[in-house]
Amino acid sequence: MTSLSTDHRRDTAVLVGTWSFSLAAIEAGWRRLAGHAVPEVGEEATGDDPLLDAIEAACRHADLDPDVDSVGFGGLPDASGRMSLDGAIMRSPLRFGGVCGLRRHLHPVTVARLVMERTEHRLLCGEDADDFADAHGLESVELQSSEARSAFAAWRDRHPEGTRDASGDARLRPVDPGLGGPGGGRLFRPGDPPAGAAPFGHDTIGVLGRSSDGELAAGCSTSGLPFKVPGRVGDSPIAGHGLFVEPGVGLATATGTGELISGISASFLAVETLRRGGTVHDAAREVVCRTEAMGDLREHHQVAVIVMDAGGRIASAALRPGFILAIRDADGGRLCVPDFVQRPDDAGLPESAREGFAKSVAPPPQEDS
Ligand code: GLY
Repeated sequence: MTSLSTDHRRDTAVLVGTWSFSLAAIEAGWRRLAGHAVPEVGEEATGDDPLLDAIEAACRHADLDPDVDSVGFGGLPDASGRMSLDGAIMRSPLRFGGVCGLRRHLHPVTVARLVMERTEHRLLCGEDADDFADAHGLESVELQSSEARSAFAAWRDRHPEGTRDASGDARLRPVDPGLGGPGGGRLFRPGDPPAGAAPFGHDTIGVLGRSSDGELAAGCSTSGLPFKVPGRVGDSPIAGHGLFVEPGVGLATATGTGELISGISASFLAVETLRRGGTVHDAAREVVCRTEAMGDLREHHQVAVIVMDAGGRIASAALRPGFILAIRDADGGRLCVPDFVQRPDDAGLPESAREGFAKSVAPPPQEDS
């Protein structure tokens, strides 16, 4: 795994994603961007905009992966045992779509893109968002994997009171085990959990994209906080929180504890730092410093951000160790550690995460294109 060291201007295309599991996802996006992708099973980009198609393809890839336990089909349900998915796609402050609380449609970013392209609205929620997806011909599917069902049953056994707010449980925060570790990219179940334990923690795939002619776009997809209070919505579907794009300036995506990310409008803060003349490093640091300044941080809290400027320079920062980002450009795909970790010596890794944390991260086998 390399340090980021990508703060050079680039004239080529690039895709960047949160967490090691996004390496395969942005590879799928890259093939779409390069224009030679045959859609994989279950993948169907909806538009004729190669950059948006690439962002959408990347998020959809993660949605479909049952081993990604924080997004899409592999994600974990709310405290009622039902899945709900959030996501967004963004080109500019005027071109944005978000959707939250989907219970029947697997690809929030696809529904969000329909919101952006087919309506004058920006954010749809809940059952009406599912109905909107139906009306645009998207298929209803079962969102929950059998593994997620088992995890929910284990959690409910521990918490028979049901709808308590699980977000205060400090047992686990998202720690990326890397692709070479026993978790194979899982954030919350990096190894075999102790008997009777249920996983906790959460995180989003956020993807930033820049085309070779300098266009910018971003997308997010998440199942949100595991065992959340039904109806809870995090940062991912909201412009300025989980993602933000300002053409000619830059773009950012944040991942981690949505309540913290929303509290400082983290992605907007990052891009606004660029707009006011800061570097990508300034912008990334600003987000985690402002997170720290909020105070009252708990052991399970994590916030990480990736920032790209209009010239394709990239920087990333995290509140705590355990965040990895993935980059795909003309030099290939690779995993990187963030430039800056606010609390590098934070020893508060939960036991279950510590067991699975791999120091070296190997890339996954290349998929056939
Ligand atoms: N960052 C995703 C969420 O909090 O829902």
